[in-house]
Amino acid sequence: MTLKNTADRWGGVSQFLHWLIVLLILILAVVGLSLDSLPKSPKYFWVYDLHKSTGLTVLALVVVRFGWRLYAGAPAPVAGTPSWQARIAGATHWLLYALIFAIPLSGWLYDSASGLRPLKWFGLFTVPKLSGPNAGIRDLAHEAHEWLFWALVALVVLHAAAAFYHHVFQRDDTLTRMLPRRRNATPTSR
Ligand code: HEM
Ligand code: HEM
Repeated sequence: MTLKNTADRWGGVSQFLHWLIVLLILILAVVGLSLDSLPKSPKYFWVYDLHKSTGLTVLALVVVRFGWRLYAGAPAPVAGTPSWQARIAGATHWLLYALIFAIPLSGWLYDSASGLRPLKWFGLFTVPKLSGPNAGIRDLAHEAHEWLFWALVALVVLHAAAAFYHHVFQRDDTLTRMLPRRRNATPTSR
């Protein structure tokens, strides 16, 4: 497997980061949505801390992934893709990047403006606060954290549906080129 993206496939680094971030966001969503129903007791603070530390890890991974994307480029649209579809796919991808950057950032701002106890990344080091305690910023960041998340859910449903549509109906390589190549598969086979 090549690490860099080629003209017709995503390389190992892009694939790894894509699926790792998908998995972490899935875990963050499940834990995040359960936070509300937890008793507000110090006994459960570790669940919050786990969500926050994992979310900050996603933020760091997104920065790396975006840097890699700018450096390594992207494969050309799959042959036969109408230009309007390629434009929509491109816009969707940039919007997905914007959301997976803004969601953890809004969570971090929410934590900062809440004036809570220091945030330690997996208990290892203290994460700087983005602002001092401020109820206005706190409420805005909290709202943003929630609504940006639901915007992501809506966009990911479209994004995944498009991938499956290409795979099942168009029978092209859109999905498989974001997956590791099967052993013995020739470049043109599926
Ligand atoms: C990609 C990363 C992240 C995702 C997908 C995510 C997702 C979520 C979701 C779905 C919720 C429930 C929203 C609600 O119903 O109110 C939530 C809540 C929360 N998130 Fe995140 N989060 C992420 C990163 C972060 C980060 C980095 C922090 C802080 C450093 C954070 C702090 C919080 C807090 C404190 C809550 C609880 C809000 C409450 O009090 O109800 N999140 N998150
Ligand atoms: C949290 C969920 C997801 C996010 C944030 C996300 C984000 C992205 C982004 C930003 C790209 C563009 C890659 C780049 O330009 O570097 C991309 C590509 C892709 N994603 Fe996702 N994705 C998610 C979930 C999924 C799921 C569930 C599937 C399929 C079942 C999927 C399939 C694909 C495929 C096939 C591509 C490559 C498209 C192409 O080559 O034109 N993604 N994704």
